[in-house]
Amino acid sequence: MTVTKEKQQIPQAHGGALVNRELTGKEKEEELVEAKSLNSLTVDAWGISDIELIGIGGFSPLIGFMGQSDYESVITNYRLVDGTVWSIPITLSVSKEQADEFQIGEKIALKGEDGATYGTIQLEEKYTYDKKLEAQNIYGTTEEKHPGVKKLYERGDVYLAGPITLLQRPDHGEFNKFYLDPSETRKMFADLGWKTIVGFQTRNPVHRAHEYIQKCALEAVDGLFLNPLVGETKADDIPADIRMESYQSILKHYYPADRTRLAIYPAAMRYAGPKESVLHAIVRKNFGCTHFIVGRDHAGVGDYYDTYEAQQFISQFEGELGIEIFKFEHAFFCTECGNMGTAKTCPHDKEYHVHLSGTKVREKLRNGERPPKEFSRPEVADILIKGMQDN
Ligand code: ADX
Repeated sequence: MTVTKEKQQIPQAHGGALVNRELTGKEKEEELVEAKSLNSLTVDAWGISDIELIGIGGFSPLIGFMGQSDYESVITNYRLVDGTVWSIPITLSVSKEQADEFQIGEKIALKGEDGATYGTIQLEEKYTYDKKLEAQNIYGTTEEKHPGVKKLYERGDVYLAGPITLLQRPDHGEFNKFYLDPSETRKMFADLGWKTIVGFQTRNPVHRAHEYIQKCALEAVDGLFLNPLVGETKADDIPADIRMESYQSILKHYYPADRTRLAIYPAAMRYAGPKESVLHAIVRKNFGCTHFIVGRDHAGVGDYYDTYEAQQFISQFEGELGIEIFKFEHAFFCTECGNMGTAKTCPHDKEYHVHLSGTKVREKLRNGERPPKEFSRPEVADILIKGMQDN
């Protein structure tokens, strides 16, 4: 972990400028009227979240769905054609039959499964792609058991590409009060006087290990931006509404209110481990963070990635990412030390370390049992127990 003592400034967005593809006011009204007469495409929730993130600048410098040259460059070099680091393809898939209905050059209305028009795409390209190659290069496996690969294999065979406009942000319901776009988080950090901000990605409740690494980081920076992913996750992950409640509770009980902020990251989870860690860091830079945490098996699933593979992968881009990476080893509670630590700070044998698998934790919660307090704060455990039983 690098401790940066000198004050930093909120970083430039990736690629230089924060993208804004959202139309508002009269322009939006006109585009919505025009959209009524356009061919339309119904996009799933994952696609809508990509449109949203492109639109609000979370995916800067992307202004639309990737064309073939950027796509191929990303899946082979983890860079856009112009050399900008980018590690995950952002693409819009359709079936061959659907693709045939659209002509290059036309503008297409992009609708959600609820029938609402969320945006438009100016169609510049249609291209086929090699799913196995994308799976191997992005997810590190071609196995369908992998949840990201499974999704990829279910997609249509053609990618549509071109710049988009965002006409309506999805309604995040009860999470709306935790919704901030990148220009708003940047302003918030500036108003708070935070010059160094560590971003934290998670798709899980905050357990003691998360808390420990967040607080180690917070010792070195001005503020913590807790930015849980609330888009699509796999079925056995804890639902976002339960997690959001648990985040509010742990923040209230165990974190300094003036040094933490909570906002949702509305993206879908790819489970792409190393490749996704780079995307996660870039997006948090776009939100205005100066630092980002990558711990053990970041964005991992099953045994697909080595514990520190994400840290190794992201290291090669560190000089040019424009956000500092705080890397943490596997953290645990040690009963001999009587506190949290990692192999870097704890001299004791594994038998003294409190380890619980995700499966074990879920089983306990479902049975109405709190995991040990060395693993999870009781306030968090109680919310999870209630949530698991209600579901
Ligand atoms: S995910 O989005 O990366 O899949 P997860 O909640 O599992 O979410 O992890 C959030 C962050 O905490 C990641 O950077 C991950 O590497 C880190 N992390 C999770 N558990 C530990 C742990 N026990 N020790 C160190 N880092 C951890």
